[in-house]
Amino acid sequence: MSRRRIALLTGGGDAPGLNAVIRAVVKSAVGRGWEVLGIRDGFEGLLSRSGLMPLVADDVRGILQTGGTILGSSNRGDPFRFPEEKDGKVVRVDRSAEVVAKIKTLSLDALIVIGGDGSLSIAQRLGEMGVPVVGIPKTIDNDVVGTDLTFGFNTACQTAMAAIDRLHTTAASHHRVMVIEVMGRDAGWIALKAGASGGGDVILIPEIPYSIQAICQKFAEREARGARFSLVVVSEGAHPEGAGKVVAQTADKSRTGYERLGGVGHALAREIEDSYDTECRVTVLGHVQRGGTPTTMDRMLGTRFGVGAVNMVEAGEFQRMVALRCEQITSAPLADVTGALKLVDPDGEEVRALESIGVSFGRPRRGSEADV
Ligand code: F6P
Repeated sequence: MSRRRIALLTGGGDAPGLNAVIRAVVKSAVGRGWEVLGIRDGFEGLLSRSGLMPLVADDVRGILQTGGTILGSSNRGDPFRFPEEKDGKVVRVDRSAEVVAKIKTLSLDALIVIGGDGSLSIAQRLGEMGVPVVGIPKTIDNDVVGTDLTFGFNTACQTAMAAIDRLHTTAASHHRVMVIEVMGRDAGWIALKAGASGGGDVILIPEIPYSIQAICQKFAEREARGARFSLVVVSEGAHPEGAGKVVAQTADKSRTGYERLGGVGHALAREIEDSYDTECRVTVLGHVQRGGTPTTMDRMLGTRFGVGAVNMVEAGEFQRMVALRCEQITSAPLADVTGALKLVDPDGEEVRALESIGVSFGRPRRGSEADV
């Protein structure tokens, strides 16, 4: 087996399980006699002098159980649209050729990119420029196409569910509507899974625009049965039907390249209080969902993805992403999985099952659904 030199980076938002992936890549590669370079702070590390760190087995000892990433991450370093200040303004500059040159200078046999759709799209474009890349899907949002799961999602759901459990008792004690805003951007997976597991009465996701009347109808039905409180789990990207828009903290995309979502919980609480005689309280979980010790599932998935990616490098399977499908580790071409998001099916089995037991998704109830 020939000696290889590989590098890995973590791009975009951190996710619990990242260190499990890094640990698995390093152990698996070092075990084959290969050299591993860690790139600091995502793609930015390939454009700076101090962005590289050699990684050996000792460097990954004791990190399996820690959140975050020992490599650091960034969502500002897209080399194709690198932000630079000019005359007090942020302008975008294409520095991809520098990245490709750096990879050649380093004589890398492979670049492993651990990231969500944004970082994987960058990896795909670098692949088109001749860089041998392997992707590993990461995001708490679970919205990467081509894989049943991304690591980080399970821990985020666990954190959100635990918060909903705590809010349940205080909601019941005070006869209030508790609104819990969770992350997920354009995908409602966290709201769906954590909301369902936490016994949410109303779950609002971007894939199903909500009607305030349908939400209030659910409160009224519960109240008629003596339940004078409700739990509303709302995904940050959820929006009202009609011309309703997502709520953003800031529309300024100049630094990150994307709109920073957040605030729908408060907007919704105001709407609810205006339409229904109740008292609302709002909890925005925010980045709490990105931190903490990873669950068993995320440590295991991260480890399998890390080893799977190294196996792909050995087999020369480049321009592909390691994936989980039907419990098996497999892979998919980056070109097929980037540029689109895996979203919740509004009429899928999970949504229908929840509706059949009385969960409201903020849309009018259909005849077959229970009022329970
Ligand atoms: O993609 C992961 C995620 O946590 C989203 O759920 C959220 O909208 C976004 O990242 C927040 O990004 P930032 O860390 O830039 O605030």
